[in-house]
Amino acid sequence: MIVSGSAADAGGAQEAFIEVDGLEKVFDVRRRTGFLKRELRRVRAVDAISFTVARGEMVGYIGPNGAGKSTTIKMLTGILTPSGGRLRVAGIDPSRERTRLAHRIGVVFGQRTTLWWDLPLIDSYRLMHRMYRIPDARYRENLDRLVELLDLSALLAVPVRQLSLGQRMRGDIAAALLHDPEVLYLDEPTIGLDVVSKARVREFLRELNTERGTTVLLTTHDLQDIEQLCSRVMVIDHGRLVYDGALAGLHEAGESERTLVVDLERELPPVEAGESARVVKVEGPRQWLAFPASMSAAPLVARIAAEYPLVDLSVREPDIEAVIARMLYPSGETPAPRSGREPEPETVVPAPGNS
Ligand SMILES: Nc1ncnc2c1ncn2[C@@H]1O[C@H](COP(=O)(O)OP(=O)(O)OP(=O)(O)O)[C@@H](O)[C@H]1O
Ligand SMILES: [Mg+2]
Repeated sequence: MIVSGSAADAGGAQEAFIEVDGLEKVFDVRRRTGFLKRELRRVRAVDAISFTVARGEMVGYIGPNGAGKSTTIKMLTGILTPSGGRLRVAGIDPSRERTRLAHRIGVVFGQRTTLWWDLPLIDSYRLMHRMYRIPDARYRENLDRLVELLDLSALLAVPVRQLSLGQRMRGDIAAALLHDPEVLYLDEPTIGLDVVSKARVREFLRELNTERGTTVLLTTHDLQDIEQLCSRVMVIDHGRLVYDGALAGLHEAGESERTLVVDLERELPPVEAGESARVVKVEGPRQWLAFPASMSAAPLVARIAAEYPLVDLSVREPDIEAVIARMLYPSGETPAPRSGREPEPETVVPAPGNS
């Protein structure tokens, strides 16, 4: 069953740019079970998923490790062929016409780069210019704009292997956009970035979406990426789509909690702060109180400040895994995440001419 939220802009009468209907991907995995013994196991990485994304939407695609997010994105780009179901991006079947589609989509895999490792950044862009047959004037215009927006000018002459993670990510995002794609798939674009770089990438994506109308599908484990960028989220778990709607609705469905961390003057018994908050941890003079995310922290803080020797405090937002876990498993029992390392796809760049 798909829990449905109330994203005002979820599809509706707008043109469906991405259409996914009963999409499936099954992997046959051989596992060693003993000396000369192997067992064939089927992994349903994507299990009958259906959704549509309208042109210009910015949608978060989230879920625990091994849920099937990257597999979905690889099918959307044509890197992987679905085992079943129907899939269209801009009216194109990605696995059949990967080359034609490549001109209209951009992909960023945060975990690996599409740039040439040993070459200076600018050389990768020059190669893409030729690979995608971008008209010279448009290439130059786009390059100038991306270099400015992503602050790349000092990095263009630097070999990719010498770039920091955040610099490389900005370089990758520019590479994905040189050919003016209509849709951008981002698979964990902020992974491992510091706070400043994250903010910069988010700001850039917001501008791209509002000013150019680029459709964006964003996979992330960072709830703030979603909060700041996406009005609609889709949650996938064990290959199934379990939620599609507004982020606020996800919080409600999962009754997520925030945490108030208080530092008292000294070690004290757990504070009593009313019905809505409960102490979940005590460590010396520091105590952690969980309270509903929908509730303001102000009355709670006021009450504790009035009754206890309060020295300092902070409020922590729920992380994405906690929100999803609460939605999926309200009683608190969380099954183990899927194991297994993600194997390399044949190629990462859906480059024209090589498929
Ligand atoms: N090429 C492959 N061969 C076999 N199994 C695979 C392959 N690719 C993915 N899987 C399996 O499919 C499932 C979904 O993997 P996928 O990479 O799509 O998850 P994910 O949601 O992107 O997870 P993460 O958050 O860890 O990136 C996992 O069980 C994974 O081990
Ligand atoms: Mg992944």
